Amino acid sequence: MQSNSRLHVGIIMDGNGRWAERRGLPRAAGHRAGATTVRRIVEVASGLGIGTLTLYAFSSDNWQRPLPEVSALLQLFRRDLLDESARLAAADVSLEVVGRRDRLPAPLRATVEDAERVTERARGLRLRVAIDYSGRDAIRRAAVRLAATGAADIDLDGFGRLVAEVDHGRGPVEPVDVLIRTGGDQRLSDFLLWEAAYAELFFRRELWPDFRPGDLAEVLHEFRTRERRFGGVAPTHLTVIKNA
Ligand code: IPE
Ligand code: IPE
Ligand code: MG
Repeated sequence: MQSNSRLHVGIIMDGNGRWAERRGLPRAAGHRAGATTVRRIVEVASGLGIGTLTLYAFSSDNWQRPLPEVSALLQLFRRDLLDESARLAAADVSLEVVGRRDRLPAPLRATVEDAERVTERARGLRLRVAIDYSGRDAIRRAAVRLAATGAADIDLDGFGRLVAEVDHGRGPVEPVDVLIRTGGDQRLSDFLLWEAAYAELFFRRELWPDFRPGDLAEVLHEFRTRERRFGGVAPTHLTVIKNA
């Protein structure tokens, strides 16, 4: 979790629609441009010290969008998974799609399962793409699953494993170290509410299609200058206390 181990970075990839609208293009064109940014970021992630990258692609609330936009997004996910899975496997990237699956169209669900199978032996970057994802609903479903076991209590790690499991995660997931949102808004929009308890937050003005590997490197550089205390006191202060 500290600078010498691999980081878990989560990204709320926001701003595709505005990027397109500013150019007089349909919103779907913004989502296509956003997919290009995903490829660029995935390519550099491991080299920047990232072990796990969780990308917010479609929230459970995004079903409320006009049907043509939802359809364009679902088609884009399927096409990208079909086009990219062999390339991901060759680059040693393992793919997991996290979120609910039961509401995805059957062809997309099948493509997701194929892409996960093709990349399951990769041991480099762990790439998690959140589709039909809701942090609150994941916690709710984990609680329902716990209740069904009849257990009266569970520790935080155990409950965290349930949160990962209900969303089809491939095993437990490390806490989020760095949470980035592009597009200028400063909110979580129901992303990784459990996993980001002590994440460092970065809100960037760039719209997602304009976000570059250099911007990610800049965030990670600033992250490494931040002091994480996890509720304790900084080591420098500890010395002062010991000597008092
Ligand atoms: C993020 O971009 C992608 C999804 C939510 C699917 P938006 O589509 O939310 O873009 P803006 O925020 O409207 O610009
Ligand atoms: C969050 O963005 C979801 C994704 C980036 C996939 P939204 O655009 O849906 O969030 P709000 O509506 O601005 O909160
Ligand atoms: Mg948005």
